[in-house]
Amino acid sequence: MLRSDIPPDAPIGVFDSGMGGLTVVRAIKERMPSERIIYFGDTAHLPYGDKSAEAIRHYAQTIAAFLVDKGVKALVIACNTASAVAYPLLHERYAQQLPVVNVIHPLVESLRRQNPHKVGIIGTKLTIKSGIYPKLIRQYLPDVEVVSMATPLLVPIIEEGYIHHRISDVVLHEYLQNPTLQGIDTLLLACTHYAVIRDEIQTLLPHVRVLDSAVPTAEYLEEILRERNMLYGGDTPSGEDEYYVSDYTRTFERMSRYFLGQTIALRLMDLWRNESLPFEADTGCG
Ligand code: DGL
Repeated sequence: MLRSDIPPDAPIGVFDSGMGGLTVVRAIKERMPSERIIYFGDTAHLPYGDKSAEAIRHYAQTIAAFLVDKGVKALVIACNTASAVAYPLLHERYAQQLPVVNVIHPLVESLRRQNPHKVGIIGTKLTIKSGIYPKLIRQYLPDVEVVSMATPLLVPIIEEGYIHHRISDVVLHEYLQNPTLQGIDTLLLACTHYAVIRDEIQTLLPHVRVLDSAVPTAEYLEEILRERNMLYGGDTPSGEDEYYVSDYTRTFERMSRYFLGQTIALRLMDLWRNESLPFEADTGCG
């Protein structure tokens, strides 16, 4: 049984290691503009993809507890890496209370509708190492050939704002020409950051279907909230969105405007020291 005392005007909790999850927030806001968002970008621990599964589970649990304490009505793990290694844990801990949504199942579900023959997957080292995508795809589409490749340079490049830039161009060329990906008809962007450079990827692979998890996750979330009568019916959001980061970076603030088409007032929240600092405490190294 779901906890019934969470009101439909409660916010939706979303988290990622950094700004990649904002691609999911954007898709949520496009579909459900009156829903309120509480976002956490764990910039102090970015990138997640190079860390151990144990470390990511620890971070994900702490962030989820913070968001649930804030009274969210759903938890969206807007990070493939955390979805790959921490979803079962968060699901077990919170699914009785509220919907827990990851970004992997909705993307695989959207792949099922495409009738692919050879699917390439790019993501962080940990997501690729987890083997979760090939496992799920083979379960639903046993005849499809699946190849995977870790592309660890992309997250730092995106977080540093090198989008539509010669740096992203060189790195993407190098990755996408890798023989592993030869002959694919579909490419899954198994990292929420990559949705930001989707058009660059599409330009380099004009004949390949490029899919990311932002819209499928927003669609799935809407469906599940509707099923449970938890969609907020108001015309405008019931309050301000809140965006937290565990470490301040100037690029995040600058790029988030580009991601969401609006200025975000970032709040610094070091969950691991259990204290909230005002932004004036900027260390100047962002
Ligand atoms: N957006 C995260 C993902 O989807 C990035 C992971 C990282 O920080 O390396 O996996």
